[in-house]
Amino acid sequence: MTQTIPESFLGVGYTSHRAGLPLEAVRFHVPQPSADQVLIRVAASSLNPLEYKLADLNFMGRTPPVALGLDLAGVVIAVGHAVGGVDVGDTVTAMADLNGDGGWVATSGNKDVGGYALARQFLTVHKPASLSFRDAAALPMCFLSAFAGLYPAAQAGDTVYIPGGGGGVGHLAVQMAARALGAGSVISSGSTPESIALARQSGAHHVFDYKRDDIPAEIAKLTGGRGVDLVFDATYSEHSFVEAAKTVRRGGSWIVLGVGPGKTTRLAETRSPVSTILAERAAKHVNVNLLRYFSEPATLDSEARAFLQRGMALAMEWAEQGLVCRN
Ligand SMILES: NC(=O)c1ccc[n+]([C@@H]2O[C@H](COP(=O)([O-])OP(=O)(O)OC[C@H]3O[C@@H](n4cnc5c(N)ncnc54)[C@H](OP(=O)(O)O)[C@@H]3O)[C@@H](O)[C@H]2O)c1
Repeated sequence: MTQTIPESFLGVGYTSHRAGLPLEAVRFHVPQPSADQVLIRVAASSLNPLEYKLADLNFMGRTPPVALGLDLAGVVIAVGHAVGGVDVGDTVTAMADLNGDGGWVATSGNKDVGGYALARQFLTVHKPASLSFRDAAALPMCFLSAFAGLYPAAQAGDTVYIPGGGGGVGHLAVQMAARALGAGSVISSGSTPESIALARQSGAHHVFDYKRDDIPAEIAKLTGGRGVDLVFDATYSEHSFVEAAKTVRRGGSWIVLGVGPGKTTRLAETRSPVSTILAERAAKHVNVNLLRYFSEPATLDSEARAFLQRGMALAMEWAEQGLVCRN
């Protein structure tokens, strides 16, 4: 059956250059896919901290209005001429480009009214039938962030510290480490009863309260003074960076999501002791920043595209197997 594609839809996004919050309902044009893009009629979309920071700071220098809801799931209604393996009518999970528009629709809840968004083919995967549109749409950005940090680095049997295991990226990272990548022990932290419970429920073996506990001392006790093999820190907190760096074993790895130590505010750079702490332990410091991947996907080489596509496929596979889910 041929779908009629409307000219516009009522989406939700930001409308001014700075301090774009609160968000507004705006009429957006339904775009046309370019060669490697897929046009999706959105059934569900989700909102990440990265997106509300985008609305607040417009750090991509976009000309508003910009529709949010970059993580999405829906039905393909048109494909570019170079797209293969994804066809009109397929149900998919995808992530729209960070320098494009999302598909958050103002009339959510009405199944006859959807948003429309473009995604690159390599950031579009088939959605398993057992996974709801809603559960699928909550995964891409957080899952890929955890995947990019952990997948290349974690070894089966590792002792891993993932601060903030009740956060969006953090709880997926805990699930991934504990259930899919075979970590021997997963240690995490949180500051509220809810986030501590979520870290535990996600598979963390030990969860500390970062506002009350001396986490480096606790981890030293747990590991017989050795420290952890790997830290993955997606908290964007300088306090966490410093404390987590103190938990790494000699020769271990400290992996941080985003811009890294000393730069968490975007507005001012501060001196951070993290590199000194890591150097004392001869630990590896890895920065995983997906911003360019998400904002300029057209510039990515085939290796980077294949890596992200593998991540999207594993998100679906592991979600279908019940190993990961967004809470
Ligand atoms: N550049 C990139 O590639 C990229 C990609 C995706 C996301 N991000 C960024 O990554 C960050 C995390 O995203 P998210 O979706 O996971 O956010 P989130 O859901 O708000 O999670 C943040 C987590 O950090 C924890 N936290 C804060 N301070 C801490 C501390 N001192 N010690 C330990 N844990 C601490 C919080 O714990 P409690 O709630 O328990 O206090 C919470 O679990 C955001 O800033 C986002 O913009 C960047």
